[in-house]
Amino acid sequence: MHVKYTPKTWIKIAGIAICFSQSSCVQKAESSSLKNAFQNDFLIGAALGTEHILEKNQKADALIKREFNSITPENIMKAEVIHPEANKYDFNLSDKFVAYGQKNNMYVVGHTLIWHSQLPAFVNKISTADSLRMFMKEHINTVAGRYSGKLNSWDVVNEALNEDGTLRESLFYKLLGENYIKEAFDLAAKADPQAALYYNDYNIEQPAKRKGAIALIKKLQASGTKIDGVGIQGHWSINDNNLKEVEDAIVEFSALGIKVAFTELDYTVLPNPWDLKGAEVNQNFEGNPAMNMYTESLPDSVQNQLAKRYEDLFRLFLKHKDKISRITFWGVNDGHSWLNGWPIKNRTNYPLFFDRAYQPKKAYDAVLNLKSTN
Ligand code: XIL
Repeated sequence: MHVKYTPKTWIKIAGIAICFSQSSCVQKAESSSLKNAFQNDFLIGAALGTEHILEKNQKADALIKREFNSITPENIMKAEVIHPEANKYDFNLSDKFVAYGQKNNMYVVGHTLIWHSQLPAFVNKISTADSLRMFMKEHINTVAGRYSGKLNSWDVVNEALNEDGTLRESLFYKLLGENYIKEAFDLAAKADPQAALYYNDYNIEQPAKRKGAIALIKKLQASGTKIDGVGIQGHWSINDNNLKEVEDAIVEFSALGIKVAFTELDYTVLPNPWDLKGAEVNQNFEGNPAMNMYTESLPDSVQNQLAKRYEDLFRLFLKHKDKISRITFWGVNDGHSWLNGWPIKNRTNYPLFFDRAYQPKKAYDAVLNLKSTN
């Protein structure tokens, strides 16, 4: 049976919030929030979309300010937005984003300087090493330079690795060779000497890709390049069983003398096309009900599974809190998540801590409860 989970675990009596639902029920101060609960452990962040930066939605805005102490721009600092043409930058939203973070005393993350995806057309047309190097230099100096001293951390290079740990044949790699990564970090360090500089990628908790990331980071370090941390994106599925790999990754990356952040956390509750063995590559999954099963609501069993996934993950995070700088969710609430549109368009997904009405889900309670029972 598909029963809608209503997070009515809390009621307010005379201004005091009282919880009377599950066995885990404890009385908490009204001010309980993710950022407060984990304030001695790590930062808690969210990726913001344009609507959040412009403070369009009062519920979202209140939630962001209450729960999070770090923000990452979901799209608006990517090259295609911030640097649409060779001689044209658009800082309209990025200035507002950074101001929002500063105004609210948040740890502000820049995402991302060098990435093969979401590039403006003029960059994709570049065919010589010199021109691409010039773009990199110009872009990093201008963007990182503009926010120098105002922003706390940069995802300098994003997704440079293949699944087997070799370097991705991106435009940057093809024209500049593997040294483009070092060049990007050196430029960023010069443009913003105070910002913490991160290498960011998905699946780098997995052994082969992790090995590639470790080799890449060691090379940077050996050549005297500043790198402060590694970002494990954390786009996972509730069917993934990867805690052992995640723990190994935390321990191994940290042994390099850098911090580990989880930079884009979400768990899809829906099937991914690549989960379906023998699936036709060019099959159109959009509109297929078997790939979009929870259009009305999330069944309790799945809600519980999601909560358990997050609870186990955060238990592991707490165990290694000395190595972890930040946990950032890729979105504010389920309605806003990119997973409603990727890898299949027009689905109803439930990957985050807050539902479409901006109410906390069971996963939120389960994770907060880890702190009250600690
Ligand atoms: C995603 C955004 O969430 C989408 O809105 C956009 O259409 C595509 O990019 N890895 C990253 C993020 O580093 O920048 C991506 O964000 C998700 C995967």
